[in-house]
Amino acid sequence: MHSFKELVTDFGARFATRHFPAAPASLYEPAEYFLSWGGKRIRPVMCLMGNELFGDIQPDTYEVATAIELFHNFTLIHDDIMDQAPLRRGMETVHMKYGSNTALLTGDVMMIRAYEHLNTISGHYLSRIIQLFNKTAREVCEGQQLDIDFETMPDVSMDAYLQMIGLKTSVLLAASLEMGAIISGTSEGNCRHIYEFGKNLGIAFQVQDDYLDVFGDPEKFGKETGGDIRQNKKTFLLLHAMEVANADQKQQLQQLLQTEAPGKVQAVLQIFKACNADAWAVELKEKYLQTALHHLDEIAVLSSRKKPLLELAEFLVQREY
Ligand code: IPE
Ligand code: IPE
Ligand code: MG
Ligand code: MG
Ligand code: MG
Repeated sequence: MHSFKELVTDFGARFATRHFPAAPASLYEPAEYFLSWGGKRIRPVMCLMGNELFGDIQPDTYEVATAIELFHNFTLIHDDIMDQAPLRRGMETVHMKYGSNTALLTGDVMMIRAYEHLNTISGHYLSRIIQLFNKTAREVCEGQQLDIDFETMPDVSMDAYLQMIGLKTSVLLAASLEMGAIISGTSEGNCRHIYEFGKNLGIAFQVQDDYLDVFGDPEKFGKETGGDIRQNKKTFLLLHAMEVANADQKQQLQQLLQTEAPGKVQAVLQIFKACNADAWAVELKEKYLQTALHHLDEIAVLSSRKKPLLELAEFLVQREY
């Protein structure tokens, strides 16, 4: 059995190779550029963990993990176009460096590469994996569209926010674990619980992402902070502030949502602070973490085998990058 850290190193070393042909360089160089800047590799490692929870890691798991990481990187490239993000992993985003047309195609070809990896796995579980992969990919698109729709909607409920982040982010974490579990041949019940563990952990993970987008240290975070405020993203910070703000603050927030003035990010940040939105992040993460841990408990396997998943959970909700 391996620790969370060992699996990150193991997968990172295997993934650090060329993934595309040389020509046309105008398409494949941006793809290699983006992949070479790393990332936390959380999802592929979750796939390995979901497999190793029930026995030794099976070779096909690496193929699925690779497909998942390629798919994830594809979503990031397109997400950065949609969010007009200048920075990721401390580097210039693909669309800023190479233009949006190239970034779209780079994302597309990365997704296709993901399916090429999936296509190599044993027929024994191929159709189950493809089915879950496709369902998840479709849900990510749904979540991403809701995220965009919410930018221009004045009233978004906390439930709608949670549903949106569940789709755009959590389902991929959940499915990563479950795909590893499926390959291991474990029971349907265990698959269901590991999925729910990942789903709830994924919510806490996105809550932390939204928190870091406002309160993170840009050096560590690797992304521009304040981007969500600039884009009028309906994060829990904004929804919570809207709920608890006094009439004055509420009016200010509403006005700020209408502007693109240079002081907007700072002004919204001050209101978030006054409304204790940061303390609320801790509560929200804790709630979903506890539900996740309940599902982890329910998985019928020796509890000593669950240690790497506990390490992962702790990292995901406390991370600073
Ligand atoms: C970023 O995911 C997108 C979100 C769902 C918040 P990660 O924070 O896992 O990105 P990398 O791969 O480590 O850069
Ligand atoms: C992105 O959410 C989720 C997906 C890429 C599917 P965010 O827009 O918050 O992710 P970051 O902060 O840009 O990584
Ligand atoms: Mg986004
Ligand atoms: Mg984004
Ligand atoms: Mg974000």
